[in-house]
Amino acid sequence: MSSLKGKDYIETQDLSWGELDALLELADELKAKFHRGEKTRLLPDQTIFLLFFDNSTRTRNAFEAGATQLGAHAHFLDSKLSQISHGETAYDTGKILGSMGHGIAIRHDLILHEGNKFMRQVAEATDVPVINMQCDVDHPTQTLADLQTIRELFGKGDLRGRKIAVSWAYSPSYAKPLSVPQGLITLMTRAGLDVALAHPPGYRLMEQTLEAARNNAREAGTKFEVVEDMDAAFADADIVYPKSWGPYDLMMQRRDAVDAGQMAAIEKEMLAMNARYKNWICDERRMKLAKETAVYMHCLPADRGAEVTDAVFDGPQSVVFQEAENRLHTAKAIMAATMRERPF
Ligand code: CP
Repeated sequence: MSSLKGKDYIETQDLSWGELDALLELADELKAKFHRGEKTRLLPDQTIFLLFFDNSTRTRNAFEAGATQLGAHAHFLDSKLSQISHGETAYDTGKILGSMGHGIAIRHDLILHEGNKFMRQVAEATDVPVINMQCDVDHPTQTLADLQTIRELFGKGDLRGRKIAVSWAYSPSYAKPLSVPQGLITLMTRAGLDVALAHPPGYRLMEQTLEAARNNAREAGTKFEVVEDMDAAFADADIVYPKSWGPYDLMMQRRDAVDAGQMAAIEKEMLAMNARYKNWICDERRMKLAKETAVYMHCLPADRGAEVTDAVFDGPQSVVFQEAENRLHTAKAIMAATMRERPF
């Protein structure tokens, strides 16, 4: 496997299986050392810029705490307070930040067909690694942490024959990005898992990610199916991952909205559409459809009482806090593997 030094981490699809496996091994090592209280100052005096177009708790703190633990500094940037909000281009932003530090991480997830493009334009401008902290297509630091968690729970060996149910679930809070389910269907089909994707009509994912999942499953000898029934997806699953995302066509309309008023009206319409499917909740009845040993996963934040009941979220099958902690270890692995000292 070639070194990841200087390479971008934008979609898991961009990396070979060997590269992903090496990141997971490094994350395991960094986790063990963190728990033993051992220092892991692999990036002394380096700087990573964290550019956010959206809110975050886990991702921001995983990168900030992780950078500190690696001996580096993570510099937070709110896009609204930067000159991007006055029209400075992705290319110019990448050129400038890349000239001042050693890595650029970006979250740009809410607008379909914009975030991933922005990141790739930044990456074209600079030789420092660009890390995707969630875009419209993928959330590859999340799904790597998810896979680390699955390997901890089910073993690092062959996951073949295990089934993950990736299902839409009701949310009254906001139209959530598509990138987590898209990232899961593309990565988990490669990891040896059979993947069942469930959503109500109107909540389709981007065709490019569905196509990638179909191809990955064909190449890996795994299964990938799409159903419009949460119960069917949960049946005999080893892992259930129910979470909300926005209705595709309305998200496209929001992208093209001409003013704030139109955008607010579309957002209201999206929540009204979500409310048609309040019965898409992960509750104890549904958990019984999965295997007795099944685990409940969620990237968080979860809408308690809507996406999932408290009984499941706080119950014995829930592994969400182990999964959230693994965001730290995988973020550290990605930074440590891709960032490097100057000159390069
Ligand atoms: N799962 C996740 O990305 O959490 P945050 O939005 O809090 O970063």
